[in-house]
Amino acid sequence: MLYPQEIIEEVRLQNDIVDVISEYLPLKQKGTSYFGLCPFHNEKTPSFSVNSERQFYYCFGCGAGGNVYTFIMQMENDTFPEAVRRLADRAHIILPEPQYTQQAKEQEMKKQRLFQLHKQAGRFFYEKLHESVGEEARAYLQKRQMNINMQKKFGIGYAPKGQQQLYQYLQQQGFSEQELQQSGLVIQRKEGKGYFDRFHNRLMFPILDIQGRVIGFGGRILQSGEPKYLNSPETLIFNKSKNLYGLNFAKNTRKREIILVEGYMDMISIYQAGFRNVAASLGTAFNQEHAKTLKKYADSVILLYDSDDAGTMAAQRAIPILTQNGFRVKVMQVPNGKDPDEFIKQNGAEAFSHLLANAMHYVTFQIQCLRKEYDFTQTQQKVEFTTKTANILAKLDNDIERNVYTNEISNMTGISQQAIENEINKIINKENDVFAQSAYQKRNTQYYQKNEEVKTKSHGLFAAQKDILYLCASNIQVYNKIKTILSPEDFIEPVYQKVYEYIALLYQKNSTVFPAELVNYFEQQQQQKLVTQIFAVSSEYKTMRDLEKALTEEVKTIKRVSLDRLASQAEDIEQIKKLVIEKGKLDGLYITLADG
Ligand code: UTP
Ligand code: MN
Repeated sequence: MLYPQEIIEEVRLQNDIVDVISEYLPLKQKGTSYFGLCPFHNEKTPSFSVNSERQFYYCFGCGAGGNVYTFIMQMENDTFPEAVRRLADRAHIILPEPQYTQQAKEQEMKKQRLFQLHKQAGRFFYEKLHESVGEEARAYLQKRQMNINMQKKFGIGYAPKGQQQLYQYLQQQGFSEQELQQSGLVIQRKEGKGYFDRFHNRLMFPILDIQGRVIGFGGRILQSGEPKYLNSPETLIFNKSKNLYGLNFAKNTRKREIILVEGYMDMISIYQAGFRNVAASLGTAFNQEHAKTLKKYADSVILLYDSDDAGTMAAQRAIPILTQNGFRVKVMQVPNGKDPDEFIKQNGAEAFSHLLANAMHYVTFQIQCLRKEYDFTQTQQKVEFTTKTANILAKLDNDIERNVYTNEISNMTGISQQAIENEINKIINKENDVFAQSAYQKRNTQYYQKNEEVKTKSHGLFAAQKDILYLCASNIQVYNKIKTILSPEDFIEPVYQKVYEYIALLYQKNSTVFPAELVNYFEQQQQQKLVTQIFAVSSEYKTMRDLEKALTEEVKTIKRVSLDRLASQAEDIEQIKKLVIEKGKLDGLYITLADG
């Protein structure tokens, strides 16, 4: 933990979860709960609930859940300490200096060294470009019409021919072999010892993170050859799924609209033409993590991929990822199969700005793509096309937009607008039904299971662990009893072990365990979600006897599995015998709460 637990709890208490979440999405009150549309998955009927009493949120649709920290981490793509800082800021709380663990300090040191190494490498490539060895590369840049300002701004360089130029340079700068290898800029020879540079005779594009630090490189071959672009591998500081090329500059425009392209050259070319809100996804397909990164700086994306099949496909794949993450999406294509860079070179910035202004709504793009697959001289194909488009339109939230497209499809196919609308409504109703049904089923099976477990004495291990933890956290009397039988190691799931330990800790501190406080002890979203799920549904037992029965069965289930596990790890027969006896005793166990 970077910050003391008391501060983390103080910051949480000063940030009411309902207030915080309301800043991101509208919530409607129903009792102590508030409901809204889940920001973490696409839905039309609200299944996202925020409980003001428990200071929790939970989505019955996708299972997302946690406390105010989890929400901020999910929403802002923050780490735990970042979320703490953000919320402390919001509540005007001044945080103490962070306390790093030894391991975290070492990791941080390694990263700092890698940043320095990359900075030096960038400098090396930049210098080579301007020395005599860089002549061919300079000529290439001139041919591609990249002006000097852009070359400087983007730190373009040249990796010279030869095996160990960079390697030797960096060694002279005091970087160890291990550091060089970790940077991915040099590669160990397969046979024997020694290293060689990853990049030679290539034009070098430094890849910068949001803070403007060099974290990797892309290198373009000067003539023709394969691969055209060679990129740094993933390292401690370079995560390809998170970084977008040029975003560190694009973010400064504060436009909240980003033109997203495929390549380094496209990005720089558009920037040079005066459109500064542009970034590239660099070889890897656009993914959820990219979307989360982008979300901090933009609400609207214009996809500008190559108009060839590969580019069209990549755009098609990026669309749902973007819409799911709440972006407005437009698609722009450059005519005649050119890429954006070529288009600008041929037609200039003015023509480009016209294309930009005419970027189409993503639905138009999807319909256009779909249209190519059908032959309209055949009625059946028209019908199929219309059904497919109805599925696309059913996803639109805006009725006016939907109406415009329905009209368009009607004109294209000659099928009446009314018929298309009916089809769309059918799809929407079906989706709502499926949701309502699954929510109903879920509630029902939970209820059913609760009654069943007391009667039939059968209970899943995970459900048993969850329920025991829930009951221990809700009632100190239960906890005091259970702690005489179960130890943390009896829980299979590591997060549950921790929860059990923290329950003890929290009872020492307060007389009650606040679930939302318990979540603070976990820094990973996945862990926070698991903890929240323990408290998402309350189990209630009508009588004391029912509660005792349930506790007894659940403890037995957990203990049996735990003893079996110990037996399988046991090293001598005596130990196994003991475990068997202990397991036998379990049969006679009956938990009573009355006598404390
Ligand atoms: P393109 O092949 O469309 O190249 O790859 P480009 O951007 O038009 O490049 P120029 O104009 O010929 O210089 C698009 C992007 O895909 C990645 C690069 O990020 C490139 O910019 N790519 C492509 C690679 O990483 N490796 C490759 O071998 C090819
Ligand atoms: Mn190109």
